Amino acid sequence: MDLAGKNVLITGASAGIGKELALQFARHKANVALLARRVEALEEVAAECRLASGNQAKVLPLRCDVTDRASCREAVLGATNEMQTVDIIILNAGVSMGCYFEDIKDLSDADKLMDVNFMGTANVLFYALPYIPKRSDSRIVVVSSIAGLFGVPFRTFYCASKWALHGFCASLRTELLDAYGSNSPAVVLTCPGEVSTSLNSSRLKFGNDVAAEFLDSVAEPTSQAANKILEATIAGVKVGFFTKAHSWLSSCYGWIPATIDGIMIKGVRSRMRAPRYGNW
Ligand SMILES: NC(=O)c1ccc[n+]([C@@H]2O[C@H](COP(=O)([O-])OP(=O)(O)OC[C@H]3O[C@@H](n4cnc5c(N)ncnc54)[C@H](OP(=O)(O)O)[C@@H]3O)[C@@H](O)[C@H]2O)c1
Repeated sequence: MDLAGKNVLITGASAGIGKELALQFARHKANVALLARRVEALEEVAAECRLASGNQAKVLPLRCDVTDRASCREAVLGATNEMQTVDIIILNAGVSMGCYFEDIKDLSDADKLMDVNFMGTANVLFYALPYIPKRSDSRIVVVSSIAGLFGVPFRTFYCASKWALHGFCASLRTELLDAYGSNSPAVVLTCPGEVSTSLNSSRLKFGNDVAAEFLDSVAEPTSQAANKILEATIAGVKVGFFTKAHSWLSSCYGWIPATIDGIMIKGVRSRMRAPRYGNW
């Protein structure tokens, strides 16, 4: 797929994976609409994208709170006024958590998390879908997580939000295929493991401030993660696994769930410090 001149809309483009994806698309001279709440951070990303494209791409920083439908509608209209179509949409905005369900003190953060990760994705797509060309080279890309494939400790509502996205995408894929057949846009779920971003430090606290922290040394660089998402986008795969092990474990989940639960617990114990693990 030649990305030059494609119109790409990215949510959560002010930081982390979304910012790095914006830069990578801009390097390919794709036009990018950058959505997030922090306008100053977006302006900085926009300046970097213009530079990365050699000033050959349209770059549109647009304020958007994905939990606010009026804001989503306005941002999508702002993008499409300039770009007419959304050839590729990357639904990436998200927040995380790090708390055992039985340690949670404030459940209202669960509503916030589901609102950003699940409904926020649906909100933006709702307004953008009419502008996505019904062609097989259009892409609807949802940034899920390894937590959308397996159960992971400390992440009940985060897993729930990502698993909800998998169901949403599976249904949407059937609808698009039913309506548009071979002209249906590809619906791509990408599933990063641990990536070095501010996701964990800016996590919702659920009323329990010291719950769990990643040991940063094991996280994948943002540029590498964004590159895998870019490749999955171009390929139009249904699920973009980040490693062969994730792909293999996912295909075995229905057969040996207890073994895979054990692997996830062991993996998290070796990668996190938490009061529960006695290494805080
Ligand atoms: N980092 C990882 O280890 C990892 C692993 C698997 C999956 N993921 C997924 O990757 C995606 C990006 O996360 P990241 O790691 O890049 O985290 P990040 O650096 O914290 O970036 C999160 C982005 O989401 C935006 N955002 C948060 N709430 C928003 C809202 N209400 N409205 C609009 N934008 C909002 C933030 O922008 P503003 O604050 O400016 O609004 C920011 O641009 C998430 O969906 C996350 O679940 C990350």
